Amino acid sequence: MKKNRNTIIERAVVSDFAAEGKCIVKHEGEVIFIPGMNVAPGDEVKLMVSKKKKRYSEGRILATLRYSEDRIEPFCSHFGVCGGCKWQHIPYETQLMQKWQQVNDQLVRIGKLPVGEIAPVLGSGKTQFYRNKLEFTFSNSRWMTAAEIESGEEINKNVLGFHVPGRFDKVLPVEKCYLQGDPSNAIRDFFNDYAHRHGLSFYDHVLHEGFMRNIMIRTSSIGETMVVVQFAQKNEDVIHQILGSFLSAFPDTTSLNYFINTKKNDTYFDLEPVCFAGTPYITEEMEGLRFRIGVKSFYQTNSDQAYELYKITREMAAIGPQDVVYDLYTGTGTIANFVARQAGKVVGVEYIDAAIEDARVNSVLNGIENTVFFAGDMTKVLTDEFIEQNGRPDIIITDPPRAGMTKEVVDTILRAAPSRIVYVSCNPATQARDLAWLDEKYYITGVRPVDMFPHTHHVENVVSLELK
Ligand SMILES: C[S@@+](CC[C@H](N)C(=O)[O-])C[C@H]1O[C@@H](n2cnc3c(N)ncnc32)[C@H](O)[C@@H]1O
Repeated sequence: MKKNRNTIIERAVVSDFAAEGKCIVKHEGEVIFIPGMNVAPGDEVKLMVSKKKKRYSEGRILATLRYSEDRIEPFCSHFGVCGGCKWQHIPYETQLMQKWQQVNDQLVRIGKLPVGEIAPVLGSGKTQFYRNKLEFTFSNSRWMTAAEIESGEEINKNVLGFHVPGRFDKVLPVEKCYLQGDPSNAIRDFFNDYAHRHGLSFYDHVLHEGFMRNIMIRTSSIGETMVVVQFAQKNEDVIHQILGSFLSAFPDTTSLNYFINTKKNDTYFDLEPVCFAGTPYITEEMEGLRFRIGVKSFYQTNSDQAYELYKITREMAAIGPQDVVYDLYTGTGTIANFVARQAGKVVGVEYIDAAIEDARVNSVLNGIENTVFFAGDMTKVLTDEFIEQNGRPDIIITDPPRAGMTKEVVDTILRAAPSRIVYVSCNPATQARDLAWLDEKYYITGVRPVDMFPHTHHVENVVSLELK
């Protein structure tokens, strides 16, 4: 049995932010990590230390005794319960400094990489209503506040909103969400009201029963809207009534779709969407290029800031007209198509077949003829033979998922030895590991973090490398 389990510390000051959205309390020589929900450096807290490890402990706040003077007033009524915008109480400038610190910690302090200067984080022009995609969940298990529980009042538990962090079964009713612009809030309210008024059953996430499961709303910067509703039963009459009423209320909807999902999980990648009205896609535009976004397609969720990210990537790549460019982890080929006009040829590789189909459609749609796309696991696709067949890359752009690249992929890149690499990452920790592998042959020539998600701890980081 470990010593000192569940120790209570009556008063301590939160000293700093830590990685992964946590905060740190330093108390009598002990470093304690706490979840970063409604907490700020400078807060005085009472906490419980629940886990003691060799070099640090983990705990949680029992009460906030005094708020830090550096806090600002959160703008959303759901702050503190909803996990969406956890840093609303932190001034945006401080958020950006903290994101810069995360990159510096991973690359320099922990990674000890020979990084020159890390540029300041490029802030997002919009810090509210910046997302183009949101999902809301139906549940028959509404999150109740302490006051609601104590009141003893009979409260309708059917709800449409966001999962409460760490609680797969509890859903927070959302009154107004500041993440996605119009008509997102109105669309959510329509489905919520309709389901209540017509006595439709809200999904039970424990028993896996009920009819209404979730809705996904996508908006594009040229004013198009996609709505995708998940139903748990194939009750087509009712489905047609709901979607017909929705269309009367929102006749401008570009793309209205639904899934019948009778599985226990919410993922729809293994399901076929049904297009009820409009086109089965919406269109996004960037620098005169048009991108078709299907129901299952990936598209960067902050469109304006994605444009900034891509411009930085393109600038760092410094592509010449004859260059062969590889865009690894290309998703729907957005970067590949974005840089194609500057390049001789662009080769995109991505795991998901449907995304690669979208990437090809997007090239055709824009009259781009110098791109080729391949679907498959990077470690298996990107081999020496593949490179021989498709041409040695002059430049590699890589944008892997949070796990980063595998050692095999990095080794293949090292053998291919492009003159330049631009590494876009949503996880500076795995990026630092991969950069250390690349250090064998590459200098780091630039580091430019970008904020894609204001009021969250997430940071995107772009690093350029030159062959030694
Ligand atoms: C961060 S996203 C890149 C998005 C894209 N560059 C863009 O800006 O739209 C990472 C992509 O890597 C893909 N992916 C994840 N694991 C993969 C693997 N093992 N092999 C190939 N692609 C993979 C994901 O499907 C996802 O599209």
